[in-house]
Amino acid sequence: MIVLGIDTSCDDTSMSIIKDRKVLSTNIFSQIVHSKYGGVVPELASRDHIKNIVPVMRKTLDDAKMELKQLDGIGVTYGPGLVGSLLIGLCFTKSLSYSRRIPFIGINHIEGHVFSLFIEKEIETPFIVLIVSGGHTELILIKEPGSYEILGSTLDDAAGEAFDKVAGLLGLPYPGGPEIEELSKTGNRDAINFPRANVPGYDFSFSGLKTAVLYYLKDHRPQTIDHRQDIAASFQEAVCDSLIEKVVKASEDKEIPRIGIAGGVSANERLREKLKEIGEKKEIDVSFPEKEFCTDNGAMIALCASYYLERGISSPYDLKAESQARLGC
Ligand code: KG4
Ligand code: ZN
Repeated sequence: MIVLGIDTSCDDTSMSIIKDRKVLSTNIFSQIVHSKYGGVVPELASRDHIKNIVPVMRKTLDDAKMELKQLDGIGVTYGPGLVGSLLIGLCFTKSLSYSRRIPFIGINHIEGHVFSLFIEKEIETPFIVLIVSGGHTELILIKEPGSYEILGSTLDDAAGEAFDKVAGLLGLPYPGGPEIEELSKTGNRDAINFPRANVPGYDFSFSGLKTAVLYYLKDHRPQTIDHRQDIAASFQEAVCDSLIEKVVKASEDKEIPRIGIAGGVSANERLREKLKEIGEKKEIDVSFPEKEFCTDNGAMIALCASYYLERGISSPYDLKAESQARLGC
């Protein structure tokens, strides 16, 4: 089955074509217009998607040496995300589907991130998955594809949002995660003991940590680059510890020795390294998507869509964009 996957949930216009679960082509147009504002400006994001959606589709088809008529299905993110951005991808997909008589299915963006763990890999369930992105921090028990139990989520900021905000405090551009990771490489992660939130159960909280960095900066204006590196590395370590504690707890409590971490923050090398170490010690199998499929991409949407389309499940034309779409709804 040949499937085109489209994601326009935030500021990237992402598309991919997969054939029988193999990725043939993948393209992402990342909007740079937002970096000077320190975050995504929704209206600008929608306008850029309109400009980019046709060229990105043409390139994705060309790279895969495919024509539209060869597609067996299209998957598109219908939520959660910025509603204006979602609408561009969804309306575009519906027009394409209707005019070319190709079935389409609306995909939940979080479920898409779950499927990024299965790109060119076998699906093994049950499975504990942590989605850590700019908008979400969700700990999920995957009973089987399509059957999910949310174990916990963030009570305030998402993990990626915390990276972006602390990067802003350190004068680094958006998105902040890769910038903090880079700065941390030469920093001392034990230099400052930032707090790890003590939240019961499987929930997370990052606003206290963010405030701790803010107050630390007020009290000690970093004079040198070394000092900023130490702050970045100590902050990154605190986020990694908080994430790892809950995901390992869920794996142990539920007696499921399989953990996956996906979403933009899962590209973080320190998080990957720490989790691998703990996985080896506790005999838990740990997996991550390939780096290119950690952040938003079309391949995860195409793979998730092909899973449903292969089972004869598609969406009606009155499917709406849902900025707050929840998993399993
Ligand atoms: O999954 P994603 O592309 O978009 C959303 O669905 O939100 O995640 C983007 C988020 C941003 O907050 C970005 O700062 C963070 O992922 N991120 C990282 C890294 N790469 C991206 N955070 C930490 N370390 C990274 N290497
Ligand atoms: Zn995402």
